Amino acid sequence: MAAKFLAYLLVVAALSTVAKSDPDPLQDICVANASSGVKVNGFPCKNDADVTQADFFFGGIAKPAVINNTVGSVVTGANVMQIPGLNTLGVSLSRIDYLPGGLNPPHTHPRATEIIFVLEGELDVGFITTANKLYTKSIKKGDVFVFPKGLVHFQKNNGYQPASVIAGFNSQLPGTQAIAATLFASTPAVPDNVLTKAFQISTQEVGQIKSRLAPKKS
Ligand SMILES: *[C@@H]1O[C@H](CO)[C@@H](O)[C@H](O)[C@H]1NC(C)=O
Ligand SMILES: *[C@@H]1O[C@H](CO)[C@@H](O)[C@H](O)[C@H]1NC(C)=O
Repeated sequence: MAAKFLAYLLVVAALSTVAKSDPDPLQDICVANASSGVKVNGFPCKNDADVTQADFFFGGIAKPAVINNTVGSVVTGANVMQIPGLNTLGVSLSRIDYLPGGLNPPHTHPRATEIIFVLEGELDVGFITTANKLYTKSIKKGDVFVFPKGLVHFQKNNGYQPASVIAGFNSQLPGTQAIAATLFASTPAVPDNVLTKAFQISTQEVGQIKSRLAPKKS
């Protein structure tokens, strides 16, 4: 009997893990108090008396971002870091703008599935499964595409016009690991002999990639 109950609990736990991302809230609102020093899963709640409508508002993705980097794309987050009212609610957005030729380099979001809606332009997008299969598609204004949770994905503007998308996430803070930067621009650095063996390249080539990806000191 106890074993059956335990099995039931395991199934329920497994189902609830696949059905959602961030944990469910335990109250109506829990606006993030980012200046509290307390460490919790997410942020502690502000005092109710200090909560205003501004905690649920963000005007920062109304317009295209200025793009001045080497990859030619900029991601502007609209997550709990910009909108404290999203704390514990398990959703967020971002806006991504691309120059012609611009790339949002291969990356993963460890805590969320992503769904994008094309505002302007055309993009070649794709994700790769753990079986190393690439799913790729050309998408245009008004189209929607999904990048499953945790999988490596990218977007490339191969068109002649700028492009923009709105991305939705089932996490208040999906997190981003950009593959190239993670491996070649971490602090401290990943040892050269790990990268030479993993990529089957020389120490000199590792050095070249590291120097190009190193955060610019200004
Ligand atoms: C945020 O947390 C700090 C430290 O606990 C507290 O002093 C402060 O009053 C809190 N702010 C709000 C707006 O709740
Ligand atoms: C790019 O733009 C950002 C934000 O406007 C600015 O802080 C940064 O200095 C710029 N970088 C370059 C290389 O122009």
